[in-house]
Amino acid sequence: MNRQSVQGLALALMLGVSIAAVSQAAQAQTAAAYPATQPWLDASLDPDARADLALKAMTQDEKMTIIFGFFGSEMAPKYTRVPQALPGSAGYVPGIARLGVPAQFQTDAGVGVATQGGEPKKRERTALPSGMATTATWNPDLAFKGGAMIGSEARDSGFNVMLAGGVNLVREPRNGRNFEYGGEDPLLAGRMVGAQIKGIQSNAIVSTIKHYAVNGQETGRFVLDSKIGEADARTSDLLAFQFAIEDADPHSVMCSYNRLNGDYACENDFLLNKVLKQDWGFKNYVMSDWGAVHSSAKAINAGLDQESAGQAFDKQNFFQGPLKDALTKGEVSQARLDDMARRILRGLFASGVVEKPVKIAAIDYAAHAKVTQADAEEGIVLLKNDKGLLPLAASAKKIAVIGGHADVGVLSGGGSSQVYPIGGRAVTGEGPASWPGPMIYFPSSPLKGLKARLPGAEIRYADGKDLAAAAKLAADSDVVLVFATQWNGESFDSPLTLENNQDALIDAVASANTRTVVVLETGGPVLMPWLPKVGGVVEAWYPGSAGGEAIARVLTGEVDASGRLPVTFPAALAQLPRPVLDGDPKKPDDSFPVDYTIEGAAVGYKWFDKQGHQPLFAFGHGLSYTSFAYDNLKATSKDGVVTVSFDVKNTGPRAGKAVPQVYVSPKAGGWEAPQRLAAFSKVDLAPGATTSVTLAVDPRLLATWDSKAHGWSVAAGNYTFTLGASSRDTAAKVDVAVAAKAIPVGLMKPR
Ligand code: BGC
Repeated sequence: MNRQSVQGLALALMLGVSIAAVSQAAQAQTAAAYPATQPWLDASLDPDARADLALKAMTQDEKMTIIFGFFGSEMAPKYTRVPQALPGSAGYVPGIARLGVPAQFQTDAGVGVATQGGEPKKRERTALPSGMATTATWNPDLAFKGGAMIGSEARDSGFNVMLAGGVNLVREPRNGRNFEYGGEDPLLAGRMVGAQIKGIQSNAIVSTIKHYAVNGQETGRFVLDSKIGEADARTSDLLAFQFAIEDADPHSVMCSYNRLNGDYACENDFLLNKVLKQDWGFKNYVMSDWGAVHSSAKAINAGLDQESAGQAFDKQNFFQGPLKDALTKGEVSQARLDDMARRILRGLFASGVVEKPVKIAAIDYAAHAKVTQADAEEGIVLLKNDKGLLPLAASAKKIAVIGGHADVGVLSGGGSSQVYPIGGRAVTGEGPASWPGPMIYFPSSPLKGLKARLPGAEIRYADGKDLAAAAKLAADSDVVLVFATQWNGESFDSPLTLENNQDALIDAVASANTRTVVVLETGGPVLMPWLPKVGGVVEAWYPGSAGGEAIARVLTGEVDASGRLPVTFPAALAQLPRPVLDGDPKKPDDSFPVDYTIEGAAVGYKWFDKQGHQPLFAFGHGLSYTSFAYDNLKATSKDGVVTVSFDVKNTGPRAGKAVPQVYVSPKAGGWEAPQRLAAFSKVDLAPGATTSVTLAVDPRLLATWDSKAHGWSVAAGNYTFTLGASSRDTAAKVDVAVAAKAIPVGLMKPR
């Protein structure tokens, strides 16, 4: 054994992978030479041709083998892990070694390599900030780099399928999984999540866009029935998927738990066959969410290609025995089984994993910490900054840091996407002990980060449990930073109210010292009853492995505050389409409708604009430490494509990053809401510098869904393009006449 394999083996053992599993994996994944008898291993052929050739060589049993997955973790007493699966992993699908078809080793998820069980030490990996935080950067380049980083950790941990790419629109700010997603706008979410998936797949592994579709809340998630009309779905949730799929070409799609208009998403002919495969021409495979399969023939005929973790999560194994019966009875055709196997093969060939088998290798955690930190820094949103409290002045002598465990770490979100942090948990004994817990604080301390950067200041910490002591400390400080957290996670929704007396703490501290800045670590929006009393608010989300450093850098102004909200912060529950969550209180077994016909495609800011509600903070909002001026806005329309151009100038005293946003409204009205985000950019400008920005507007953002034509239709007329720093800001407006245009339903070329 050479040094490299000794190291690899040592690492494998450290990770808890048995020698048998390693060698079996290696066997299944290493197709040594490509003999003439195995022409599908010829990488110069396209994935379709390779899938056709491999399919021809497959036996019926082999086809049955690759369409069924196993859970990768123990679930005593119900389920024992198959030994080939990587311990603690989300799933395993056997390969076909004789054909050189690799086994599929599946791992969660969107912020890094997440594990479902096993020894905490072996689970440690780098975590990106939450999906919401990454989206708040409005910088697809960072999303790509983050995806590339976590994808490389997946590969080097032995995984070739990453269950990442959550692009469900935030229809419900209380949804416990919003932190995993890309916010409330189809263009922003689609572009950002698409970029992340592209990054993951740049490692020659499969990424799985999810949860398809209209999976808007966790309350009753296994049974609820999302009600929405086709035109509305196509213009909102489905459009986000369409944009991301166009940009990233994911090798797999994961169908969700919920029903959509009566049928479960994983047996929904409209979603899987009609929209995804026929209209969009998706060529790869659909895998189910864990426990989302409810039938054999119905699901298969509706377009589901692979049952995930079937024995552990579904009521029964629907894809093996029952499928054989269904084939015999003629309820499922042989052609359909071939299509299922072929799609999986195609996804694997297209990913590159066959040529580049995954193998366990050392991970450069120090380099990866920089990637996650850069992402976190740009995602932090400065919501309010009165009296120039931030960045913290070098002259501040006495700084109080209160609450949120800011002395030791930063919060992360719970459930299947939970990454275990390098260095162990910073806080124990809070939150549920088991899934979707534990509640995990990553050991990256904002307090330490601040102390390192402000050596001349006296920085004192109080945990905030004793309100009077916190107020006393605040009163005796030049400036106060109160950290407030809200833990969100998979399987439960959260009220928008901060828990554990944190509102009272902030109120008490701000009453003692108006020079108070609140730093929030939350999955999404929260209500802020204390807002008028505080001088500043910073939304740091769940900022990932290096979150404490990132927060300290933004608070001290080492970097500009350049995040912008990807989600509307409501002022009150009464402003929402559903002030009370449908299905609340929970009805665990009975299906119930979630009525998305109320807002239809008017999701988030579109609903607020349409209703004339004043949000607490608007979509797109975020302050900078410098100031920007927008000028010279022009819009031209040629061959049905509108191009917008403008200048951005940094008019302030320091370098900073602007996020110019362009919104579009039809003069004639008739859309789901007054305006839609049409284009955006992120620009980095030195003080005094100006740059010109030119953006092409995707024509579907000027269109409505035309059910008769089964495509998009742009109405001829005048459209107003508004340039600003948020959805509620107007720096300039321009009108342009646009000709009528029909746009086919299929995917457009990657932008
Ligand atoms: C989640 C998925 C996840 C899967 C595997 C499910 O509970 O909804 O997002 O990928 O588990 O862990």
